[in-house]
Amino acid sequence: MSTMAPEEKHVSRRGCLKSKWARILLAVIVFIVLCAAIIPAVVVTTLRKNNSMGPKSKVFVPLYVYPAPGAWTPLENVVSAYPDVNFTVVINPGNGPGPNSLPDANYTREIPVLASYANVRLLGYVHTSYAQRNISLVRKDIETYAAWPTNSSNPDLAVRGIFFDEAPQQYSAQSLNYLQNLTDLVKELNGFGSNGFVVHNPGAVPDSRYLASADSTVVFEGTYSSFQERQGAKLFTAIPDSNRTQLCAVIHSVPDTVEDPKLRSLVKEARKVVDELYITHLSVDYYASFGSKWTEFVDLMSD
Ligand SMILES: *[C@@H]1O[C@H](CO)[C@@H](O)[C@H](O)[C@H]1NC(C)=O
Ligand SMILES: *[C@@H]1O[C@H](CO)[C@@H](O)[C@H](O)[C@H]1NC(C)=O
Ligand SMILES: *[C@@H]1O[C@H](CO)[C@@H](O)[C@H](O)[C@H]1NC(C)=O
Ligand SMILES: *[C@@H]1O[C@H](CO)[C@@H](O)[C@H](O)[C@H]1NC(C)=O
Ligand SMILES: *[C@@H]1O[C@H](CO)[C@@H](O)[C@H](O)[C@H]1NC(C)=O
Ligand SMILES: *[C@@H]1O[C@H](CO)[C@@H](O)[C@H](O)[C@H]1NC(C)=O
Repeated sequence: MSTMAPEEKHVSRRGCLKSKWARILLAVIVFIVLCAAIIPAVVVTTLRKNNSMGPKSKVFVPLYVYPAPGAWTPLENVVSAYPDVNFTVVINPGNGPGPNSLPDANYTREIPVLASYANVRLLGYVHTSYAQRNISLVRKDIETYAAWPTNSSNPDLAVRGIFFDEAPQQYSAQSLNYLQNLTDLVKELNGFGSNGFVVHNPGAVPDSRYLASADSTVVFEGTYSSFQERQGAKLFTAIPDSNRTQLCAVIHSVPDTVEDPKLRSLVKEARKVVDELYITHLSVDYYASFGSKWTEFVDLMSD
């Protein structure tokens, strides 16, 4: 308060009307110049915010595509065209790693190509039959994947973790022990790089006591219309003891009419709730090839 007083006195001493109007005019000009500078910046920032896609998510790809020459090219094309988009890619040579210590020559040719990209994390498929499959057999599958780089003498013939399909939804202490036993194995083996990544696929929101035993959990695998219903019901934001960094969604059977801007809205809605996301317009054999809007989807993931 006291610092204002000398200022007021100072102003009142300048009596001249002309200089007062000049000062007002100057003030008006300064105001207009400032407005001209600030308003567009505010408008641009606001527009950007409205257009923003929110948090980035990784593209999740159940790559159940046999690597006949050229079959993985649609994936390799986007992986190299979008180096700022991360991809988590599940490979499945034979309902798991297959019966042999190494997969066939098409796989041993194509896996190192994908694995060499910094923005790709490959995962090996195993199934657990809802934690009922003989755990020794599951452990053997995991050990087979982990041995690929040493067995082939090719460090790029490698996966960086395991995708556990048919993970349980209903809680039992026995099932949790089973899953934790397998997660511990993935983390302690050397063949997956520094920290083997674990994904569970119950295909729906499981009992939340399971969530901490995986790095990521597929809390939705289903059609576009059922995703809309569940997202509308805020089912994903209501998962106890979870946050989006641990969640993955797979949405298939998206109608062909859902293209930009509807596809953009879908991607944006899904990115709010999950850190890994797959969207395909295929409605049969959804994971056996790439849908018509595959590149458009990846492009929206890069925004
Ligand atoms: C690789 O894929 C091609 C095309 O499907 C097939 O003809 C060939 O037999 C495969 N090679 C091996 C070693 O399985
Ligand atoms: C992609 O992966 C790299 C390397 O792991 C990481 O530094 C980066 O933050 C990731 N970006 C996104 C958007 O997840
Ligand atoms: C599980 O598999 C192992 C190895 O094949 C076998 O020795 C064991 O008997 C099996 N256990 C059960 C309960 O089937
Ligand atoms: C790869 O695995 C096979 C079958 O288990 C084994 O016979 C072979 O010695 C292994 N090769 C290496 C280099 O570890
Ligand atoms: C994990 O499962 C294997 C196979 O049944 C068993 O030998 C091992 O003791 C288990 N480890 C733990 C920590 O439960
Ligand atoms: C979300 O989950 C990640 C991974 O488990 C964890 O590091 C992070 O602290 C969690 N954030 C919140 C706000 O709970």
